[in-house]
Amino acid sequence: MGVAAAVVGAGVGWLAKPTPGPAPTATATATETATATITTTAKPAEAPVLEIYHWWTSGGEKAAIDALVKVFNQKYPEIAVLQSPVAGGAGYVMKAAMKSLVLAGEAPDAFQMHAGYEGKPYFDGGYLDPITDVWTQQGFEAVIPKVVQDMVKFGGDYYAVPVNIHRPNVVWYNKALLDKIGADPATLTTWDALTAACDKLVAAGTAHPVSLGDSGKWAATHALEQIMAGEGIDFYQDYVNGKLTSATDPKLLDALNIFKKYLGYVNPDHATLTWDEATARVIKGDAAFNVMGDWANGEFLVAKKVYGKDYGTFPPPGTAGVYGLVIDCFQHPKGVKHPENSRKWLTVVGSKDGQDAFNPLKGSISARTDANVSKYGPYQTAAIADFKAAKNMYPSVVHGSGAPEAFTAKLDDIMSAFVNTKDVTAAATAFTDAIKAASADYTTVWKLV
Ligand code: BGC
Repeated sequence: MGVAAAVVGAGVGWLAKPTPGPAPTATATATETATATITTTAKPAEAPVLEIYHWWTSGGEKAAIDALVKVFNQKYPEIAVLQSPVAGGAGYVMKAAMKSLVLAGEAPDAFQMHAGYEGKPYFDGGYLDPITDVWTQQGFEAVIPKVVQDMVKFGGDYYAVPVNIHRPNVVWYNKALLDKIGADPATLTTWDALTAACDKLVAAGTAHPVSLGDSGKWAATHALEQIMAGEGIDFYQDYVNGKLTSATDPKLLDALNIFKKYLGYVNPDHATLTWDEATARVIKGDAAFNVMGDWANGEFLVAKKVYGKDYGTFPPPGTAGVYGLVIDCFQHPKGVKHPENSRKWLTVVGSKDGQDAFNPLKGSISARTDANVSKYGPYQTAAIADFKAAKNMYPSVVHGSGAPEAFTAKLDDIMSAFVNTKDVTAAATAFTDAIKAASADYTTVWKLV
């Protein structure tokens, strides 16, 4: 069971279609001597360099990208990989910086990007090269699930290669704290049960049982998104298809009310913490719960915590059997300095070896069905089984895939205002107004059921 996406109509992007300039003339100075300069029309040899951008700067994230680069360098030892990591979880800093670089004609050879809508403005603006030939040469279609394929295609061609599949709908818990109050995580299947456990934790001395680190705003929106997914897949399908337009929608109001209650258990310094600092509170036992994507597993691994003994996970209430999708990709920007090295990078990004080096450290599962499961720890082994058995899947909006940028660009500010005011009516109005204002940009029809 999965997600089917059909693209209809043309979207309005933030990038204007560039006016084509004069065709570049390939000239290179092949040899220089004291007496003569020979100019040739042959293609200049590409410098042995690959420049990539990403936002993987936490402990687990860095370990994972370094492992992927290592696989690349085993295959291409002559190519120096220049990584430009831009701190800021979920890419909230890098995404804006990348727009400026691309608009200025300074795109790196490849950059981290989410599948789905996030690539569409680049595609609409003519800033990406199709890479269907890379997909064909590497046989990716045979091993990458259709649900993922559909999310990296525009206009019938492939424009990105996925490196993973992250799951956003996960509650991470500290086992010792739950043991202390005698709470069985398997029973925390409703928000009422979860908040009752929070009350017990408070009574037992954990002042703020739920950790949140929304210094970049998105982590609060991330939590709300998982609460919304728990309201039912039909509701979520309407949401990503731009049909959630009534500010009195009972499920939207319910989700916001749950979130309001949830915020009552959150650490008061949440706005000063990054996502990984919030996860660290659960690792240390200062908080019991953290709703976060499974990149959090990388932090537990770096801290040498043992799944099932020190920590565990369960789906946010209402999302059991449902798998949210956060898919990191790389692409081939047009006119990059090292086009061949960019293509080589994409082959390694999509390779079995590359993915089986990267994902066990990253917390995600491989985007390939032929992953070597023995390389993955217990959390991910369970996630691989959950992915296969999922009755529904849904694209994350917070992480760029599920809705157009005209909406997502406003979302974090709306939720951040809500975190401060807790005004459900105002948030529901702003939320649905933002969807209505972006209506022309909802060009993908998601079929989640
Ligand atoms: C990315 C993950 C990353 C997380 C936190 C998400 O948007 O998909 O790869 O670990 O943000 O930075």
